[in-house]
Amino acid sequence: MKPITHVLVVSSDPAYRDDVVAGLNSAAARLDNPLGLTAEACACDGGAVARLLAPAAGGGDWQVVLIDHGPRSDGQGRAAWETARAILAARPELSLYVLLEDDDEKLQVEQFAADAVDGYFYRDERDFHGWFRILAAEVAQKAATPFYDALQQYVAQAKDSWHTPGHSGGDSLRGSPWVGDFYDFVGEDMLRADLSVSVPELDSLLHPMGVIAEAQRLAAKAFGARKTYFATNGTSTSNKVIFQSLLTPGDKLLLDRNCHKSVHHGVILSGARPVYLDSSVNTHYGLFGPVPKATIERAIADNPDAKVLILTSCTYDGFRYDLRPIIELAHAAGIKVIVDEAWYGHARFHPELRPTAMECGADYATQSTHKILSAFSQASMVHVNDPSFDEHQFRENFNMHASTSPQYTLIASLDVARKQAVMEGYRLLDRSLKFVAELRQKINATQAFRVLELADMLPEEVAGDGVRLDPTKLTVDISASGWSADELRDELITRHNIQVEKNTHNTLTFLLTIGSTRSKVSRLFDALLRMAKDRRPPLAQARIPQAPRFTELACLPRDAFYEAGEAVPVLDEEGMPNAALDGRVCCDQIVPYPPGIPVLVPGQVVRLDIVRYLARLLQTQRSIDIHGLVHADSELKLRVLKAEELAVLPSYEPTQR
Ligand SMILES: Cc1ncc(COP(=O)(O)O)c(C=O)c1O
Repeated sequence: MKPITHVLVVSSDPAYRDDVVAGLNSAAARLDNPLGLTAEACACDGGAVARLLAPAAGGGDWQVVLIDHGPRSDGQGRAAWETARAILAARPELSLYVLLEDDDEKLQVEQFAADAVDGYFYRDERDFHGWFRILAAEVAQKAATPFYDALQQYVAQAKDSWHTPGHSGGDSLRGSPWVGDFYDFVGEDMLRADLSVSVPELDSLLHPMGVIAEAQRLAAKAFGARKTYFATNGTSTSNKVIFQSLLTPGDKLLLDRNCHKSVHHGVILSGARPVYLDSSVNTHYGLFGPVPKATIERAIADNPDAKVLILTSCTYDGFRYDLRPIIELAHAAGIKVIVDEAWYGHARFHPELRPTAMECGADYATQSTHKILSAFSQASMVHVNDPSFDEHQFRENFNMHASTSPQYTLIASLDVARKQAVMEGYRLLDRSLKFVAELRQKINATQAFRVLELADMLPEEVAGDGVRLDPTKLTVDISASGWSADELRDELITRHNIQVEKNTHNTLTFLLTIGSTRSKVSRLFDALLRMAKDRRPPLAQARIPQAPRFTELACLPRDAFYEAGEAVPVLDEEGMPNAALDGRVCCDQIVPYPPGIPVLVPGQVVRLDIVRYLARLLQTQRSIDIHGLVHADSELKLRVLKAEELAVLPSYEPTQR
């Protein structure tokens, strides 16, 4: 399908803007126009933003705004700047060109927004042919996919492979009576594109100087970062790389205990001294919320020697912090801020989801581009805004974690996902948000199911913290339906072919992404309606085990992790929570999945309520996995420090360096 590219010409002079539109469209008709560039006029007022937030007439997407500063004599310059500012606030991914009267105006523009303006034309030149060529080139540059293009070209050249990988472009598989079906299943292009660093034309992810560097530069511009790095081992690795770059053994860091397990792995690897911040909990729905703002403020005040603060925003359930004031406070205390945006890579491309962590001034943000945008699984980005970023240090740590044989189609998928987000992300997200509104209304009409609003989900302790919700994560209360969450999940998958993102004991979560379609929405609603018709008397409120709060650290997580320890059963001989674990020090990270939040971290003192919690989870939750337990002798055990190991380890002193 050929793209359609819309240019909005914004001017307070109706005759002039019509002239420009006619000139550009006439050039578009005469010249080569592969991107389908077409111009439309708009007055220089609040209507311009509204226009850019509405679908463009005739399909396609808005890509460029050409804003007329106007002749100085008409005094409209200020209105033009204000309009430009509002446009950039709503759609920062659009290209902005300014029509100027003279160089004095150019000076003003540079003071106003040198970084935000992509180019200038002198309004009286009326060189529509030249302007069209420049705008078309601008759009082509944004729509470029340097790595993906190079990969395609290389594959098309059909070179003989005398290098890794061993399947040699799929030749080892093709036609095999045993594994030929894999070739057919995966497809020739995927196998031919599975290349290696032996192909210098395709650059190196571990030392990018060519097409990967160029693709990363485009991503940095798209996501509003100074620098962006592609990672092919997921945000799990991106988090660890940043931790190891910023923290040396003994450095103190403040972290949401609710952080993803990769963050806790980063604590072990870096040898950092963590100060855990307990997050809020909605006990009714079994959801973990943000860390209360007052807790963060207190932690910053009490730990002036902390180097780093890391928060997750948005969370798996869609909770978004009011990040700006928190980041400002941390920066004022000399603390760098990392935001785990694994679930929020799409936010930059719709005003309803912004601001992003980068826009709020975070030093680092990690995003699982694969979770919400169109990249392949494991494809992640690290965005950097840290003014004292040490690129060498980062590179060394990146290379410590990265495979020397990255999957090239993953890199290509990051390039393509960035292009898509910039070129059509707004329109696709807007469609998803409309689906959310429609689903909310229809699901609520079933009366058996109810879409939870922020007020339902937000733990009370963070009610005044300015937390918002990412509406694309739709959490549905199922308690009035009489179905259990496990039954609903099973029914949805076996009878209706619908796989949900996750559930708690009384909620189901559906993830809407840019890949959600009208027919998927309709099938989901249809399934829920059928199940609502089969509703039963509400189940007795199940008593779900409440996750215990953090206890204390006896030693550094890293020290506990590297000891041999001993494995002690979670249940005693009578099948009861094992009291022998009370007071012992855990060596591993114990993480119930879902929700993936550690109940114990290495070095943490085990208390009986934690053992009871684990025992109850094991006995009552069918769909839960507990990562970190030792499976031995047909028992589940916790690895804890032996007394003699603990005796010689330095004890944990949060204030000591
Ligand atoms: C908050 C958070 N951070 C990081 C990750 C890891 O991301 P990835 O799956 O890309 O490794 C996840 C995965 O679920 C997550 O929920």
